[in-house]
Amino acid sequence: QVAAASGHTVVLVDQSDEILKKSTKGIEESLKRVTKKKFADKPEAGAEFIKKTLKNLTTSTDAASVVHSTDLVIEAIVENMEVKNELFKSLDKFAPEHTIFASNTSSLQITKMANATTRQDRFGGLHFFNPVPMMKLVEVIKTPMTSQKTFESLVDFSKAVGKSPVSCKDTPGFIVNRLLVPYMMEAVRLFERGDASKEDIDVAMKLGAGYPMGPFELLDYVGLDTSKYIIDGWHSLEPNNPLFAPSPLLNKLVEEKKLGKKTGEGFYKYK
Ligand code: 3HC
Repeated sequence: QVAAASGHTVVLVDQSDEILKKSTKGIEESLKRVTKKKFADKPEAGAEFIKKTLKNLTTSTDAASVVHSTDLVIEAIVENMEVKNELFKSLDKFAPEHTIFASNTSSLQITKMANATTRQDRFGGLHFFNPVPMMKLVEVIKTPMTSQKTFESLVDFSKAVGKSPVSCKDTPGFIVNRLLVPYMMEAVRLFERGDASKEDIDVAMKLGAGYPMGPFELLDYVGLDTSKYIIDGWHSLEPNNPLFAPSPLLNKLVEEKKLGKKTGEGFYKYK
């Protein structure tokens, strides 16, 4: 959405036409929200902006067949290293020499993905934040193999889509998630111990620390499965780090398929 809205030609690839239809509808709805604000007094200019953006966006279920004309691939599939590597390996065969590959992973090692390809120097991380149309940040991740030219291209691209890039080494959680995820897990532990209610913890962090959402609202917004996946991965890397300890309550909610806003229930219920 943000790439198409800033004039880039985008092919959105997913597994089925049904998913793509749903994604396109989501983008249209999000564009309407952005436009309502951006073109508050000029509805015609807003309609033109939506039309132009959607014209830049096509969809496909066949990544291999569209990657041959692509300068940049941004992967945002399931957080599973094997599945990601399989995708990158196959795209590597079909993409032109100059094409840069980037992953939007929240917590996996970019270096391992780069090593699944033959273009380690043209591989980096581009980590966006929910909701992407609103959040101004992009983390640009440089592995030890990422060339300076690739890094600069990723920084330039981030600016071209209207974001503010920061850079970080290929370390667990990069900057934001390394701080945010342990903070959210500490909130769950505080609640699990019965020290405070989740409602009071959320109010406290909003009114006492100026955060736009409390930790439980944010966990539900990001998705409990995503948060569990991140913490489980880090726990297996550093089993003795108390900040990365799994939470029985989070595990129980995920087991019950209460994954947050997207399933209608997480820590809170949504209509
Ligand atoms: N698309 C387009 N516009 C959107 C949007 C979306 N998906 N979501 C919100 N907006 C815009 C709308 O323009 C809306 O204006 P409107 O009222 O005219 O429609 C405006 O945001 C304000 O939205 P709301 O009034 O609904 O709510 P807020 O003022 O609370 O803002 C928020 C919403 C921007 C989500 C804010 O609550 C916030 O900043 N929350 C924290 C988000 C955060 O921490 N994100 C990072 C998560 S971690 C992550 O993503 C990393 C990953 O790896 C796990």
